[in-house]
Amino acid sequence: MKLITNQTGLKGIIEVPGDKSISHRSIMFGALAEGKTRIHHFLEAEDCLSTIDVFQKLGVKIERLDSEVVVHGVGGFQGLKRPMSDLYVGNSGTTIRLLMGILAGASFDAVLTGDDSIQKRPMNRVSKPLEQMGARIETKDNAGFAPVRLHGGNQLSSIHYEMPVASAQVKSAILFAALQADGETVIHEKEKTRNHTEEMIRLFGGEIHEEGLTVRLSGNQRFTGQEVLVPGDISSAAFFIALGLLVPDSSVCLTNVGLNPTRTGILDVVEAMGGKLTKEASTFSGTIQVETSNLQGMTIEGALIPRLIDELPIIALLATQAEGETIIRDAEELKVKETNRIDAVAKELAKMGADITPTEDGLIIRGKTPLHGAKVTSYGDHRIGMMLQIAALLVKEGEVELEKAEAVAVSYPNFFEVIKSLIG
Ligand code: S3P
Repeated sequence: MKLITNQTGLKGIIEVPGDKSISHRSIMFGALAEGKTRIHHFLEAEDCLSTIDVFQKLGVKIERLDSEVVVHGVGGFQGLKRPMSDLYVGNSGTTIRLLMGILAGASFDAVLTGDDSIQKRPMNRVSKPLEQMGARIETKDNAGFAPVRLHGGNQLSSIHYEMPVASAQVKSAILFAALQADGETVIHEKEKTRNHTEEMIRLFGGEIHEEGLTVRLSGNQRFTGQEVLVPGDISSAAFFIALGLLVPDSSVCLTNVGLNPTRTGILDVVEAMGGKLTKEASTFSGTIQVETSNLQGMTIEGALIPRLIDELPIIALLATQAEGETIIRDAEELKVKETNRIDAVAKELAKMGADITPTEDGLIIRGKTPLHGAKVTSYGDHRIGMMLQIAALLVKEGEVELEKAEAVAVSYPNFFEVIKSLIG
């Protein structure tokens, strides 16, 4: 697909689609609760539709209406039914990993699998702690990859777990299994990761304790159906934050963006780079306004990384236009995302003229490099595809041709239309 290039003066107000992490979890908790859950501003994108599909196969009635999704809860883990076929999650890591926790204590067997990307992503980071809790899990050729077979009929026990990786998906899978175990589970995180599962447990009437890097949860809790209002996804907003900062003479306003502090690392980085950004926050969400800015390079590392892990590709683009050098480190997790994002960002932006070096755990980016036309690929990764379209807007000469552009539908189906609307 030919991308839009060479833009100036982009102005507009955008409401980004619903948060992906929260949309997945609202289906999961809605399914496990007693009674009806109504979800507003649900993300109608491929990943979250995979979660709906999987729960329908597990016997949960889910209605997709015009302005909401209604989930008819089955009243607990034991209410889920044996699926008649393998459970296919498409490209969605959150679906497969959280599902492993949800089905770890089921009475039936289930096979979970997904697309080529999913089959290359590590599942043993989830199966290992779940096996310690009593689950029986087989991964393909015993190598830790999908397809994953969960054997039914195991009683789970609680666990004290020291997380070897900073991953909300692993933490959440353990929490779902812990809800089916007797006693208290204690998880100690390496760094604080997004806490949407913890927030949802509270919203649906359960009890969970978060203190610093420690999370404590007791098993056998009951959940009640709720009204869930999904805020806009800050990870989707990030592309328009970058657009507003980088395209000359631009100003963009993003409304109803989720501002959970475990997710707002990008805002801290933009401020530290000297970007003109203002935010007006209410309880869960807020408005973000950005204007074209001169940015300064910086080092991004440590506890900040999990708070912006999905935004690193677009932050790398910001760095290519900033004054001086930007160093991203402690981000080896990027290698096991939808694609190896360290390699993908370095290769594709270099094709467009960026001065960027991949490292073992991040990137080194030298700024103020003009970008030019090139033939690039998303590698089937939605966030790489969207980052490359924002990069293309800065290209003055030549065309940018993007392979596998359709990947953006994983989290932002009308992304290209929104870009066009800013131009129109
Ligand atoms: C997610 C957690 C993160 C993130 C992913 C969504 C979640 O993955 O990158 O896009 O919803 O829990 P990891 O848990 O692998 O860090």
